[in-house]
Amino acid sequence: MAIIAPSLLSANYLHLQDECNMLNESEADWYHLDVMDGRFVPNISFGPMLIEFFRKATNKVCDVHLMIEEPEKFAEQFKNAGADILSVHIEACPHLHRNIQQIKSLGMKAGVAINPHTPIAALNEILPDIDLVCMMSVNPGYGGQKFISSTIGKIEQLRKMIDERGLKVLIETDGGVTLENASSIVAAGADVLVAGNTVFKSADPKGIIKQLKAIR
Ligand code: DX5
Ligand code: ZN
Repeated sequence: MAIIAPSLLSANYLHLQDECNMLNESEADWYHLDVMDGRFVPNISFGPMLIEFFRKATNKVCDVHLMIEEPEKFAEQFKNAGADILSVHIEACPHLHRNIQQIKSLGMKAGVAINPHTPIAALNEILPDIDLVCMMSVNPGYGGQKFISSTIGKIEQLRKMIDERGLKVLIETDGGVTLENASSIVAAGADVLVAGNTVFKSADPKGIIKQLKAIR
């Protein structure tokens, strides 16, 4: 069974308490928070202040996806806001190993996010040091985009790389996940499904989470 991580980027911001209650009552395992800086990605979302509110209103694992430059400047603030898992982009981090050490020393699980064009081989050296790979299946910056189908092959490659080396790294798929494509994503080897629009734009978010959870 996959870990389900609804992305609050697609939530209704006039009714955040209700959205958090829905998450708490649902079969979701985690919730996914997308932080954007308008530099690394062409959009701005929210920062640690909002995450602190989410943390207070939810009882699931808080999975924070940083789409920002210089994440080292903010890692401690995200820890204090309540992040359990913090992912940084490989494309934004010339000193990635240092970023990972920092995240771990702050007591969070460390993830590396990779863009659709970045080859899996770029993860080769960092893989034993991390807890999660956030595999982008859309170009980061917006919810509601179409799944890029070549991601399936990348998930298969990464699954093989992790298993051959006996590692415990989780593969998270982020972007364009739907009820239609979720089973092929899980079959390719993904452990975690992030879903924004599929969950929050539905008339029955809890029902959708339940259906995603039932996929194997
Ligand atoms: C995109 C974000 C995703 C996004 C997914 O930059 O990283 O987490 O919220 O949304 P959907 O599931 O709608 O593609
Ligand atoms: Zn994300």
